[in-house]
Amino acid sequence: MNSDEVFEIKRTWEIPAASPTESGVAILIQFFTKYPSNLQKFSTFKDMTLDELKDNPRFKAHANRIMKVFDDSVQALDDDYSQLEEIWIKVAQSHFNRQIEKQSFNELKEVILEVLAAACNLNDQQTEIWIKLMDFIYDIIFKTIDELEQDA
Ligand code: HEM
Repeated sequence: MNSDEVFEIKRTWEIPAASPTESGVAILIQFFTKYPSNLQKFSTFKDMTLDELKDNPRFKAHANRIMKVFDDSVQALDDDYSQLEEIWIKVAQSHFNRQIEKQSFNELKEVILEVLAAACNLNDQQTEIWIKLMDFIYDIIFKTIDELEQDA
């Protein structure tokens, strides 16, 4: 990514980053509303309604953890991409162990972009830049999943 693109990512990220729990909860609620089967992967939440989830402290903590991964990634854009790789290989490995499939990752990606676009009121150019970053991150995730599948 060039420095203009990094600047746009950082500038737009400030909006959801200002209220990480709220933003993370918005992403996850939208994820489970649109793609409910993903909720079944969460053993602690799977029998709760979305309304109950919104106020559940563990759910909020989980929403925050996801936001932290993105926050670390946005900070890492200033450096070479080795840090970004390190962050997302770890996510791919821990989720591979939980049998989270590429389709679920793609569903979440779509929702993240939707929530970001609405929260930040992204214009077309900013949307393209976010898609570029998400594609880059997802290349790392999917490559790691492929390698782990081959080793299995
Ligand atoms: C953008 C991609 C994602 C990020 C950044 C992310 C981040 C995280 C983090 C930081 C954790 C806790 C630490 C860990 O064990 O790794 C976690 C746990 C978890 N994630 Fe994800 N995740 C992502 C995608 C997904 C997807 C697509 C699913 C599909 C259902 C999922 C399901 C889970 C589950 C079931 C747990 C365990 C929760 C628990 O034990 O309470 N994640 N995730």
